[in-house]
Amino acid sequence: MHNLLVKNARIASMQDTAKAYGELSATDIRIRNGIITELGSGLTAADDEHCVDADGQWCLPGLVDCHTHLVYAGNRSDEFAQRLTGVSYQQISKQGGGISSTVRATRQASADTLHAEALRRAQRLVEEGVTTVEIKSGYGLDQETELRMLDVAGKVAETLGIQVRRTFLGAHALPPGENVSADDYITFVCDTMIPHVAQHALADAVDVFCESVGFSLAETRRVFEAAKQHGLAVKGHVEQLSNSNGATLAASYNALSVDHVEYLDPADVQALAAAGTVAVLLPGAFYYLKETQLPPVEALRNAKVPMAVATDFNPGTSPVASLLTCANMACVQFGLTVEEALRGITVNGARALGLTNTGLIAEQYRGDLTLWDVPDPSALVYEINGYRPSAIICGGKHVR
Ligand code: NIG
Ligand code: FE
Repeated sequence: MHNLLVKNARIASMQDTAKAYGELSATDIRIRNGIITELGSGLTAADDEHCVDADGQWCLPGLVDCHTHLVYAGNRSDEFAQRLTGVSYQQISKQGGGISSTVRATRQASADTLHAEALRRAQRLVEEGVTTVEIKSGYGLDQETELRMLDVAGKVAETLGIQVRRTFLGAHALPPGENVSADDYITFVCDTMIPHVAQHALADAVDVFCESVGFSLAETRRVFEAAKQHGLAVKGHVEQLSNSNGATLAASYNALSVDHVEYLDPADVQALAAAGTVAVLLPGAFYYLKETQLPPVEALRNAKVPMAVATDFNPGTSPVASLLTCANMACVQFGLTVEEALRGITVNGARALGLTNTGLIAEQYRGDLTLWDVPDPSALVYEINGYRPSAIICGGKHVR
């Protein structure tokens, strides 16, 4: 049922209020046709409304994982083992492993196989309360496979009853084994893929891996320009392994987000703030790559750049199917406060996707909620694998 009344909750709305987590004095949430229509106390359920008594539990927005690559085939446990012996991610990628190895496996996988594997990964995220997930393409690097990935991404969300945002990441790497120049490949991305993706509404945004082992700043600019011409928002994997000035370029295109940003120059945060671009922190990749360069959290905070946290779920640098673990890592490794981490996986995660309909508990937002039997929301970040929501509601419907 899409009509629901949640009663007797402590509501951590994530609105900007004086109280921690935007806690409201209201205790009840009315959802009609999937949308929050009323916040109050002592509300009574109408005949067509299903009533949920939260009995004093905490209610948070449904969680938002704003950066994943969870549609792919195969796995890269062999590279994991290699890296443990001291071989770097960049070396593995130069030797034809890394992204290329997942591309080869993904090209060979049927839509059904991809769907089944992605479903299992997404299910792990949903169990923790994720009701909105972003999924990128980028392991096809040819038209057929990129489109298959985007199609599967949509089906995964549909199967699970959650909201999905799809991002076209054709500019993830050069296609393996084709001897195509970066220039020609970017032309294909800009002149063939982006127009097709835009025309058929197959993605909401376009992403680029702007990096020494990815695409140059000039190539990234061409992709952003094509996206802009076709009315698609942009975001970027930038300053992950080195500083290529991708963040400043992204800000000049009003990017929704810049992601990773360990090597972001603190002097560049002003451009992000001015553009309203969200910095997406991905501590899973930092952890797996044993990175030591910390993202400039203090500078981002001072400049009031919104910070989001995501899993970056992918087979190479971040095989992490737990958004709450990443929230914990963002605190322990990067120095976020617990509240920043929780806002990072709710309201700021939504902003990184350009969504103004979720991530917050307020009237006119989607009825995307999670209920938690915890003494305080901080428990979710403090303990690793400590809690699961007692209820997950997406668009007013019980997901579980
Ligand atoms: O976000 N940085 C590029 N893309 C992924 C890694 C992809 C892979 O290694 O398969 C990331 O870390
Ligand atoms: Fe990524």
